[in-house]
Amino acid sequence: QHEGKEKIKRAPVVSVMGHVDHGKTSLLDYIRRTKVAAGESGGITQHIGAYHVETDHGMVSFLDTPGHAAFTAMRARGAQCTDIVILVVAADDGVMPQTKEAVQHARSAGVPLVVAINKMDKEEADPDRIKNELSALDVIPEDWGGDVQFVPVSAHTGLGIDDLLEAVLLQAEILELEASPDAPARGVVVESSLERGRGSVATVLVQNGTLRQGDMVVAGSFYGKVRAMTDEAGKQVKEAGPSIPVEILGLNGTPDAGDEFFAVADEKKAKELAEFRQTR
Ligand code: GTP
Ligand code: NA
Ligand code: MG
Repeated sequence: QHEGKEKIKRAPVVSVMGHVDHGKTSLLDYIRRTKVAAGESGGITQHIGAYHVETDHGMVSFLDTPGHAAFTAMRARGAQCTDIVILVVAADDGVMPQTKEAVQHARSAGVPLVVAINKMDKEEADPDRIKNELSALDVIPEDWGGDVQFVPVSAHTGLGIDDLLEAVLLQAEILELEASPDAPARGVVVESSLERGRGSVATVLVQNGTLRQGDMVVAGSFYGKVRAMTDEAGKQVKEAGPSIPVEILGLNGTPDAGDEFFAVADEKKAKELAEFRQTR
C-alpha cells in the first residue's frame, strides 16, 4: 500500500488543552455554536470529542480533551494526532498544574502552541500575569520577542475568537500540512463504546487517505466492514478525507483511544492483522 499519491493541503487537527475549568469546552462551544458543556455531567468533559468546523479562515478539526487529572493518559495520546495545541489559560486564574502538563505534552510531541488567554470578560482578568507565568516556562509571546501567539479571548462574549482561529490557521500555513486523499485510509481512534442497537461505535480521525462506507478496516485489535458513518452532528456521510473525524459502525469490538486504524483489502487480511495485534 504505497502512499506516494498526489498530495493536497489538509486542515489542521487542533487539540484544546489546559487546566480544569479554564474554558476549553466553552471555547469550542462558542466556535461550534452548540452547547456541549451544558449537557455534560458536572460540567466535566468525560471523553474526547472530535469536531470539524468550517471557519471564515478555512477548515479546522478540533479535539476537546478532558481537563480532569484522571485523564492524563488520554490527553498524552491526544497530542500525538495533533498538529497544533490551543493552550487555554484562564486570565483570572493563571498557570496551573495541568497548564504545565499541557506545555510538556505539546513539547514532547513537537507540536506548536497557540495560547488562548480566556475569560477576558472577567474583572480580575490579568493577561500580563499569564504572559509572565508562561514565559517562565519558556513559552514566550511574540510581542515579547518569542515565537508563540497569545490571543486574549472570551468564550462567553466571543471576544478574540476570530483572532484565535486566524492564529491557528496561520500556524497551520507554516506547518504546510499535506495528505493524499487517494491513499488507503489510516488514522487514529479517538474514542469507542458499545451502544445498544448500534453495536461498536468508534470515533476515528482520518489522517491520510479517504475512508468510505463499505471499507474493511482494522482498528487496534478489532476489525470490521464500515457499515455506516456519521459526522459529529450525527449526519450520515459516505466518505471522510484527511483530518476529518467520523463515527463508524461495524467493528467487532471497541478499540482504545489512541489505537491506529487502517483500511485493508479484504476480510481475510483484516482478521489476520487484528488477530496478530491481539497476541502482542
Ligand atoms: P474541563 O473539561 O472540566 O476541564 O473544563 P473546561 O476547561 O472545558 O471548562 P468549561 O468550558 O467547562 O468552563 C468552566 C467554567 O468556566 C464554566 O462555568 C464556564 O461557564 C466558565 N467559563 C468558560 N469560559 C469563560 C469565559 O470566557 N468567561 C467567563 N466569565 N466564564 C467562562
Ligand atoms: Na468544566
Ligand atoms: Mg471541558
